Amino acid sequence: MNDRTLLSHAGRNPAATNGTVNMPVYRASTVVASSLAEYEGRHDKGLDEMCYGAMGTTTYYALAEAMTGLERGAGAVITSSGLSACTMAILPFVSAGDHVLVTDSVYGPTRRFCDTVLRRFGVETTYYAPGMGEDIERLFRPETRLVFAEAPGSLTFEMEDIPAVAEAARRHGCLTLMDNTWASPLFFRALEHGVDIAIQAATKYIGGHSDLVLGVITARTRELYVRLKECMIALGETASPDDCYLALRGLRSMAVRMRAQQESALKIARWLEGRPEVLRVLYPALESDPGHALWKRDFNGAGALFGVEVKESSGQAIADMVDNYRYFAIGASWGGFESLVTVSRPERSAFPWQGRGTLLRFSIGLEEPDDLIADLAEGFMRLNRA
Ligand SMILES: Cc1ncc(COP(=O)(O)O)c(C=O)c1O
Repeated sequence: MNDRTLLSHAGRNPAATNGTVNMPVYRASTVVASSLAEYEGRHDKGLDEMCYGAMGTTTYYALAEAMTGLERGAGAVITSSGLSACTMAILPFVSAGDHVLVTDSVYGPTRRFCDTVLRRFGVETTYYAPGMGEDIERLFRPETRLVFAEAPGSLTFEMEDIPAVAEAARRHGCLTLMDNTWASPLFFRALEHGVDIAIQAATKYIGGHSDLVLGVITARTRELYVRLKECMIALGETASPDDCYLALRGLRSMAVRMRAQQESALKIARWLEGRPEVLRVLYPALESDPGHALWKRDFNGAGALFGVEVKESSGQAIADMVDNYRYFAIGASWGGFESLVTVSRPERSAFPWQGRGTLLRFSIGLEEPDDLIADLAEGFMRLNRA
């Protein structure tokens, strides 16, 4: 089924919900059984159907079903945040003494999880340069269990050759996990490019309205799905039915939003590239970007999030520019309908960040792009006056 049609229909079941177009919010802790025999036979439930609220209600399962379809996977679990999706995707597959390979441009809090929790439990992390591609081969050890990729990388937007990395991992009997939030399954079919476990911070484009925090982990095989869900149940990790409802609602318009945001982002990124105040724009959708060829080969589109390195390094001058934007609010997260800006401070260990000026990150929303360009132009005037 075409993605756009799937997004309109997946996870709905009017015949089972008194004819409502949308799956209602099912709020529940207790789910009563019709007999003691049914209650006692429940131990396998919670994997695929409602049996206790913490393991997911009907709204949760509707979102999981929709995401499984969109990702072309075997099953999806929904977690309480995008970050918990990153950490929960790793946990079932590592034990003390194991080793994991993580891209050096991974989302910062995922890195902190590896450096604190995983380290404390005896799991060692090696960060690899995202541009390594098949050279990642030499970093595998007998105790390596998985590779955690993200493309493009957080803050610095390097592309990775995901099929090559996944192929190397497979040769070493390791899993490939990927944080695919930037492209979403609409613009990169991670599981069809060799990834075993695809991660989405549904907080971003799936929600799309900056009013929920949620994560989704989709597995390529049933066996991986069961490992993920059992680990979630063991930890008491869960997702609120209200947020699952909002994520389902976000899915309905996601393709239209993402295409519009991509178009604006490209227009704005091209305009920024031509500005004398700008050293470079970090956005794989641009022909000038070092990751462009890989992006073009593997992706169907681009998230509307990119980096801009401006020449100015004075904090005060940057603040004069950024503090007074009319439309770009200053704030973390991204993927909503509203445009955002932040200053980025990349943390790297496999390769040093070579930034010369100040690195900004822009998330482009649904505003008219010419209004955003005018806002940015006025910002550069303030910067040049400072
Ligand atoms: C690439 C990426 N992955 C994961 C997350 C975490 O998502 P959440 O904010 O829902 O925890 C973020 C948040 O900014 C992100 O940028």
